[in-house]
Amino acid sequence: MSRKPFIAGNWKMNMTAKSGAELIAALAPLVKDANCDVALCVPAILIPEMTKAAAGTNIAIGAENVHWAKNGAYTGEISAEMLKEYGVKYAIIGHSERRQYFGETDEGVNKRTLAALENGITPIVCVGETLSERENGTTEEVIARQLEKGLQGVEDIKKVVIAYEPVWAIGTGKTATDGQAQETIAFIRKKIGELFCPMCAQKVIIQYGGSMNAGNCKGLMAQPDIDGGLIGGASLKLDFATIVNYDK
Ligand code: PGA
Repeated sequence: MSRKPFIAGNWKMNMTAKSGAELIAALAPLVKDANCDVALCVPAILIPEMTKAAAGTNIAIGAENVHWAKNGAYTGEISAEMLKEYGVKYAIIGHSERRQYFGETDEGVNKRTLAALENGITPIVCVGETLSERENGTTEEVIARQLEKGLQGVEDIKKVVIAYEPVWAIGTGKTATDGQAQETIAFIRKKIGELFCPMCAQKVIIQYGGSMNAGNCKGLMAQPDIDGGLIGGASLKLDFATIVNYDK
């Protein structure tokens, strides 16, 4: 079953309105003939300017998180409605940095995911094991739990993108091998098949993330279950275009 590949950048807490707009202007002509969907998830404060910078291009703008409530007393948070006002199409949810440094839980991931879906924003739900979990042999157990809890109550799983990001590979320059990434992503697809339905699992886009770069993207993208990438460091430079054009 064919799935349209999806390459998304995650700028994290990087770039400014000026440098971000310059990067988008430089990337736009390089990615315009991409055969995959392309997005850049940017810091919330940059969304209005980056939306303008990407207007008329095939680069969609995404957010790096979204809160579950419609509005209310949640200092520092951003609602789906606020994102929607700027035409935001995607929101990363449950990134390991959010889980690790900001105490986000599977329950919170679930509530954020449902709120995004209710508002027509595609959640990019991140899952992945730490180094000690991989070494203990609990990778599948950890990921199964993240999927079960994080995706509870999702009506149409095809509207969710999953990003498999082994925590030990994020920002470390240590990529999972093509085989490790494929094996775990195949497990994720199987688990989604069990939680939802096997046919829908074949349609779900599952990205790999963790030190994916211009050099290793081809090998990762050649794996049968890997449908794209969530790119951190390499999305801050023109290398992002090389990754988007991995098939050329
Ligand atoms: P990295 O980050 O590509 O810099 O490893 C990926 C991510 O955290 O989404």
